[in-house]
Amino acid sequence: DRPQRIVSGIQPTGNLHLGNYLGAIRNWVRMQDAMTGDSRCYFFLASLHAITVHNDPAQLRANVREMAAALIAAGIDPSRSILFSQAQVPAHPELAWLLNGTARIGWLNRMTQFKEKSGKNREGASVGLFTYPVLQAADVLLYQATHVPVGEDQKQHLELARDIATKFNTDFGTELFTLPEPIIPPAAARIMSLREGGAKMSKSDPSDMSRINLVDDADTILQKIRKAKTDPAPLPDDPAELADRPEARNLVGIYAALADETSAQVLARFAGQGFGAFKPALADLLVATLGPVKARLDALRADPGELDRLLAQGAERAREAAAPTLAGAYRALGL
Ligand code: ADP
Ligand code: NA
Repeated sequence: DRPQRIVSGIQPTGNLHLGNYLGAIRNWVRMQDAMTGDSRCYFFLASLHAITVHNDPAQLRANVREMAAALIAAGIDPSRSILFSQAQVPAHPELAWLLNGTARIGWLNRMTQFKEKSGKNREGASVGLFTYPVLQAADVLLYQATHVPVGEDQKQHLELARDIATKFNTDFGTELFTLPEPIIPPAAARIMSLREGGAKMSKSDPSDMSRINLVDDADTILQKIRKAKTDPAPLPDDPAELADRPEARNLVGIYAALADETSAQVLARFAGQGFGAFKPALADLLVATLGPVKARLDALRADPGELDRLLAQGAERAREAAAPTLAGAYRALGL
């Protein structure tokens, strides 16, 4: 089998929580750990994408560090995977500009995410928000990505990257760009808030004191689980019976995600028991999983110099890997 090159970006955000960990960060660690032989993952913080919407420079700088620290703390190994901030690899915006000559306005006009994100204020949206998918194409084509993990909302952008690559290869009579295949990551559990009537657990709700943050210590986690909204009924043995018990379903789902089991497997162990028994077990599992992540995160946050060094090293390797493709693109264009 030819080696795989998986390329994936994540928006740099701060205040990371259990939802980010189970829904996003842990998936990257799993992808990395599944690599064998010469296969490799390129993981980048989408710092250049971040400036297409409201940009607070101090916040962005802090978020890049925070997300990088969380990824390393969660198990991304900067010596096995190439972890970097996009802004430190000028080949990304350079190739994006070159691809702007190939991408068609009509193609970008069809992108539903631009329509959603620009909303009623289309005329006031940044040009970057419109050409965002061209930068995304550059992000993956630069490294000759063979596979790109995509959620439902990103399928259209990967299709566009393939269209751009195909047109470029055809127009300039080259085989420069590899066409990346999508990989659909296993559906991640959607973690809901632990309070009554909770929506999705999210950093964007500052009033939600129930949110489990990656920086919470063991006592805080215990408290939050103890206070989590539940109902008085015992746990059933059939997950279907949790359908109209959203809080119970969420807590069982969190347990299942942490233990890497199905809800049915979790219920097989706890059926007939109430939350008085289930909650301490869930809290223990959370502390056992997040405790070591928090310890590494604390150490990295206390040493921003080391973090910056790791990011600089990742960027160096990324620049090296990107150079031949970028040079090939200039050459193909007669530049
Ligand atoms: P937030 O909702 O806190 O603002 P983001 O929108 O920045 O988080 O999401 C960052 C990543 O974390 C995305 O991949 C997103 O799917 C994942 N994520 C965020 N919240 C949750 C959640 N409650 N459950 C599962 N995944 C989540
Ligand atoms: Na969000």
